Amino acid sequence: MSQKDIGNKIPIYKLKAGKEVEDYYDEWTIENKYDKDMVDWKYSGPQETVTLFKKHNSKKEIKILDAGCGTGLVGVELKKNGYLNLDGADFSQKMLDLVPKNIYENLFKIDLNQKVNIADDTYEGITCVGTFTFGHVNPPALDEMIRICKNESLICFTINIGIYEEYGFDKKIKELEDNNSWKIIEFIKSDYIASKGVNAWLVLAQVTK
Ligand SMILES: C[S@@+](CC[C@H](N)C(=O)[O-])C[C@H]1O[C@@H](n2cnc3c(N)ncnc32)[C@H](O)[C@@H]1O
Repeated sequence: MSQKDIGNKIPIYKLKAGKEVEDYYDEWTIENKYDKDMVDWKYSGPQETVTLFKKHNSKKEIKILDAGCGTGLVGVELKKNGYLNLDGADFSQKMLDLVPKNIYENLFKIDLNQKVNIADDTYEGITCVGTFTFGHVNPPALDEMIRICKNESLICFTINIGIYEEYGFDKKIKELEDNNSWKIIEFIKSDYIASKGVNAWLVLAQVTK
């Protein structure tokens, strides 16, 4: 199957953006269906991302934002690996409501496609898993992530392979390298949701602003 057809593999990939996506996630939480589906689908994005982040950062006290944290699967993984100073952000309140207690210090309900109300140079690391995908969050969000990170922070994120070129992530990543906003340290293919035939690029960048 060509990566272009990935949009038909999972119902949410057919949605356009904004409210439609938010409502879908809100409903996906009923009876904990999102978390159950991720177990059934053997979703490996959170573990793969945290493993890569940890490979390049052993300082456990750094302040990390989990952007598009959903129900907290990445936060749980970060915490398991000793990272203790975590905030989470997502635009679905119902996903945020399912985050286990004691994972994040702060939870923000924000739209990552807008300028976010977070000060410059707040974080020392960002994880963003499953959020750069069909109809979700677009490349300009990467500018905001760099803005709210201190210099030398690591940003570790997945991009669904099906949208990588179509949504202009290839160009954005190059632009940010060309203007010395970051350097790409790792760019690898993630299994992601292999059981559904959906893969993602897993990227680790270091802020160099
Ligand atoms: C596939 S889920 C991934 C959640 C979590 N990172 C994980 O790995 O389980 C994508 C998340 O992105 C959030 N999302 C989608 N578009 C968003 C936007 N524009 N702003 C903030 N969050 C958004 C959804 O609400 C959902 O929680």
